[in-house]
Amino acid sequence: MPVSLPPALGLSLDLLRCPVCRTRRLHPDHGALRCPVGHTFDITRHGYASLLTGTRATSGDDAAMVQAREWFLSTGAYAPVCGMAARLAVAAVSEQGTVVDVGCGTGYYLAGVLGQMPGARGLGLDTSVCALRSAARAHDRAAAVAWDVFRPFPLADGAADVVLNVFAPRNPTEFHRVLRPTGRLIVVRPTERHLAELRGGVSAMLTVDPAKEQRAAAPTPSPARDAGVHPTRTGPLSGTPGPRTPPASRQGLPCDSHGARSLRPPSPARRTHATR
Ligand SMILES: C[S@@+](CC[C@H](N)C(=O)[O-])C[C@H]1O[C@@H](n2cnc3c(N)ncnc32)[C@H](O)[C@@H]1O
Repeated sequence: MPVSLPPALGLSLDLLRCPVCRTRRLHPDHGALRCPVGHTFDITRHGYASLLTGTRATSGDDAAMVQAREWFLSTGAYAPVCGMAARLAVAAVSEQGTVVDVGCGTGYYLAGVLGQMPGARGLGLDTSVCALRSAARAHDRAAAVAWDVFRPFPLADGAADVVLNVFAPRNPTEFHRVLRPTGRLIVVRPTERHLAELRGGVSAMLTVDPAKEQRAAAPTPSPARDAGVHPTRTGPLSGTPGPRTPPASRQGLPCDSHGARSLRPPSPARRTHATR
């Protein structure tokens, strides 16, 4: 029996364009999405649309990484980060906006933002099948789509009011294309102090490249502006230990500091940047 169209995906269909021929209007057809030319993409039984075809993506979280992140996020340690992302989003657009979360993982942040925007809809992109399964269930207004951030997004120009990018790979050109002119890009990224306490005790852990700061500043010419403070816990976490701790390079784990940056392209861009 064909999979029925998940309601959240139905809400976001008009945002999508065919990744092959780039025509708009993907429509549901017997458990799939089909473009007017006939290109067809599965809607999986887990509730996300699989638009990624051809060459496999070179990155994406595996099951253990997703499980570990899900557990860690459930401790609430990054709730302040989620809260800040939601405040930046709410301040940027009307409650009825469209939020696209690129590298959405389990959908934790997208759900948190939508929770503060009662009329908004959301769409998460990720390559990880395991993450997408969770993202498709994260919020009743959040659709999930398999996509590689390094390829042109299967989204219409100017479709998003907010692009969210939390500890995930970035594609500034596509962020700019899919954001409305008045839209806002919110980036949360590790700073050089990321995981400092852990790095102090575990010499083999990777560090954050200091040049990453400059690279993160690249999309817009205006200087960064502090948007807030997000301390996270540095003591032991309560609750059941996670199944496996991914290395620092896989991000999203307890850290001592991180940045939330908000961009409003095109120029003159307004950018905010939060660190502790
Ligand atoms: C550190 S996790 C962050 C996930 C989520 N934003 C969060 O903070 O909970 C990075 C995410 O980016 C995804 N990812 C990695 N490479 C990607 C790519 N090329 N395209 C899309 N997503 C990718 C991973 O699968 C993972 O879900």
